[in-house]
Amino acid sequence: MAAGREHFGSRFAVIMAMAGSAIGLGNIWRFPYMVGENGGAAFILVYILSSFLLSLPIFFSEAVIGRSTHANTFGAMRQLAPGTPWRWLGLLTILSPVIILSYYSVVGGWSVEYLLKSLALQFRTPEAAAGFGGFISSTWGPLVCHTVFLALCAAVILGGVKSGIEKFSKLTMPVLFVLIVLIMIYSLSLPGASEGVRYLVKPDFSKLTPSAVAAAMGQSFFSLSLGVGTILTYASYIHKDENLLVSGAGTAAFDLVFALLAGFAVMPAVFAAGIEPAAGPGLVFETLPHIFAKMGLASPWLSSGVAILFFITILVAALSSAISMFEVGVAYLVEEKGISRRTATLGLFAFAWTLGALCSLSFGPLSGFKLFGETLFSFCDKLTSNFLMTFGGLLFTLFVGWKMDKMRVRNELTNGGSLPMNGRLFGIIYFMIKWVAPVVIGIIFVTNLLL
Ligand code: TRP
Repeated sequence: MAAGREHFGSRFAVIMAMAGSAIGLGNIWRFPYMVGENGGAAFILVYILSSFLLSLPIFFSEAVIGRSTHANTFGAMRQLAPGTPWRWLGLLTILSPVIILSYYSVVGGWSVEYLLKSLALQFRTPEAAAGFGGFISSTWGPLVCHTVFLALCAAVILGGVKSGIEKFSKLTMPVLFVLIVLIMIYSLSLPGASEGVRYLVKPDFSKLTPSAVAAAMGQSFFSLSLGVGTILTYASYIHKDENLLVSGAGTAAFDLVFALLAGFAVMPAVFAAGIEPAAGPGLVFETLPHIFAKMGLASPWLSSGVAILFFITILVAALSSAISMFEVGVAYLVEEKGISRRTATLGLFAFAWTLGALCSLSFGPLSGFKLFGETLFSFCDKLTSNFLMTFGGLLFTLFVGWKMDKMRVRNELTNGGSLPMNGRLFGIIYFMIKWVAPVVIGIIFVTNLLL
């Protein structure tokens, strides 16, 4: 299976690719708001704890499966548990990323449109900033942008693991950090910015309710792209001598730092403009353009420049996450169905384009079509975020903790004992994988199911 398979070229490449998957819209439009709403620094503390105590064990579970088999999600399950129902987990984790890709690409398309708008220097008047609702409910504009976004993903995927995904990630991730730091500096320099800083850092333990703790766990889980086979697939491209613990911790650290930088880039500007903080698409596509327009009255060129940098950041962050979803399905089709990478890419493109197009139209012409009371876009979002991702994460930890041979897990995490990891560290990680993570995600899963 491993013969002829591509590998990431270096540790830097591994971490950049995985960080590319992890760093996405979740860091920019979800994290800052959640921090402010749920107790500031107190929330950040819980978030860091759950990243390392809960999300990393799940990350390691996926990474152990992927790297030990050097196979796609389905092939990995077939190798490790042949002839058992675990192969359904392999299939589930091919389905989930394709569904996420479909609606994520619609949002990616919006960022294409907004980048073009900012390049055309349109965010200089409040009227131009107000058109979000009208745009997403129209028919053709969003469809064209969705197509462009998905085609950009396909182009990277066609390049392969090394000259596509690795090259793209190594180039864009460092640029992303530079851009977000520049935007943060601008944002912090605005009069009134300190109110936004206070919103993020003021520890308020009284807001740290059980649901805030659950939100912190859910956010760290979502932010690391867990539970849908992306980390498994990327890990299957990691060399045997690479240290999985370092790759995992590095990815989590980059993801966290980026989320914090995004928080300090977004919230000070929101408060400086005297606007109520919001979460979700509204924050990025409505609140911020409004702010750019407001700032534009004083210094049009600077605010246009910042708007351009900001939408480049959103677009690149979304692209690098989307290609990781794309790769899961491509790896499966190439390795299990024996078709060429090109055909696999085109096939997935066609599928994700069609489902995505229907999701896009569900904001406008198809808004009357409801599944379980939700439009198609929101159904796909809820199905994956609340259900399939947690379910997948739960099954991955159960598989590694209870089904896989413990020696094999140990060998994978210690590279056959050659890494200087003491037995106690492995014992702790294994305990987290076997007991803590499944119980906690199980609780989150059941809560999502019932609410
Ligand atoms: N981590 C991504 C973000 O922060 C979102 C995401 C969730 C994701 N699940 C994923 C990305 C699976 C790729 C694959 O926006």
